Amino acid sequence: MSKNNLQKRGAFVSRIGFIFAAAGSAIGLGNIWRFPYIAGENGGAAFILIYLVCIALIGLPVMLAAFSIGRNTKKSAITAYKKLSPDKPWFIGGVSGVVAAIFTMSFYSIVAGWTFSYIFKSIFANLTVMSPDQLGNLFVSHISGVWSPIFWHLAVIVISCLILFGGVKEGIEKWSKILMPALFILLVVLVARGLTLEGSWEGIKFLLYPDFTKITVETIVMAFGQAFFSLSLGMGTMITYASYVSKSENLPKTALMVTAMDTGIALLAGFAIFPAVFALGFEPTGGSSLVFSVLPAVFGQMPLGSFFSTLFFLLLGIAALTSAISIMEVIIAYFVDEHHWGRKKSVILTGIALFLAGLPSALSMNVLKDYTWFGKTFFDLMDYMASNILLPFGGLVIALFVGYQWGVDKSIDELSNGGTVKSSLFKTYGFIIKYVAPALILLVFLNAIGILNMLWK
Ligand code: TRP
Repeated sequence: MSKNNLQKRGAFVSRIGFIFAAAGSAIGLGNIWRFPYIAGENGGAAFILIYLVCIALIGLPVMLAAFSIGRNTKKSAITAYKKLSPDKPWFIGGVSGVVAAIFTMSFYSIVAGWTFSYIFKSIFANLTVMSPDQLGNLFVSHISGVWSPIFWHLAVIVISCLILFGGVKEGIEKWSKILMPALFILLVVLVARGLTLEGSWEGIKFLLYPDFTKITVETIVMAFGQAFFSLSLGMGTMITYASYVSKSENLPKTALMVTAMDTGIALLAGFAIFPAVFALGFEPTGGSSLVFSVLPAVFGQMPLGSFFSTLFFLLLGIAALTSAISIMEVIIAYFVDEHHWGRKKSVILTGIALFLAGLPSALSMNVLKDYTWFGKTFFDLMDYMASNILLPFGGLVIALFVGYQWGVDKSIDELSNGGTVKSSLFKTYGFIIKYVAPALILLVFLNAIGILNMLWK
């Protein structure tokens, strides 16, 4: 590739840059907002156990597969598939990723916007002295306002676009490096406070003692979708990011570290929230309002609560931004690689399109509240279709592609930097990618779209 071309696509400068960028993509609202909310609605410990199995058995191998495709081709998903297999339709796996990126941003940007607005609520609205009821009401009144969610949604898109103008290296690396350690420390403080509240034991039980009688097909589908969502898989994000990475980077180590950090942060968020849920009288099934109502109450039990609450929502907002830009990068890289548009034009058009795509989600809790499809509001429908259908589909295509078209050997050759990185786990990787991952994804996927359900009836 010519130097000029390299510069146009951008690249990560430092070795640690890729780890931080990939972790910055993975760690976001998925860990701190979505994981506790979905775990709470699906019975707690049993859900978490299935989630962990999905991470190890499918998430990590699919991430490795994505890394190998991205770095080998130096292209974003659609172009990468076309390059490795010019005359077969594997690129559909990339197309579904671009669609998933649009669906995901539609609701992700709205939730990121809630987070931003809670930075200011923490400063001006005395969140930390409110009762659980008052906190719940505040959340409802925020999301049922029309203009405020739209304003914050616009702010998220504009800020993301400004970061994305800088390209990959300036934009993405820098932010992630400062943010993640800080967020981690704050979560540990929250966990410590939550665990020392009177009555927190029920919450620990909720997280650790699985009640397997509560597991349904739906629980498994949700745990599965959460694993893909949290690790940023099935959309082309990780293919795109790996396309900016140098040939000397240790990809297996990066994948392991990203997976471990992402899972660790999600579990920490669970332990920050559920002990407090039970100790302070919230409901574990509080849904999408969970973090926004429970954590301010925990901060209320700490000295300097308003300060920490402000800091927390600020850090969560930045974590959301580093994820949002990775989602947007999928669409932007598609324009740059497939249509040879300039980066600036691609960023602006993506921003405008995503602002529009987010409007119905922003209005889902108010003006469009009564419009539902399959019993879901537009906001929930976008989330369900992206996380539980499109992402597993993207993961399935990656696994089948590596397993049966491109070849496990070529993938391992890329992952091992031409044989220099040695690991006995490569064999296991090959087996999982060929057999285990496709079989499991297919099974859950068929369930998600209701085909098996129909057959059972
Ligand atoms: N993983 C991110 C989170 O947990 C969200 C995200 C970023 C994502 N890029 C993605 C989800 C690609 C699916 C696919 O918040």
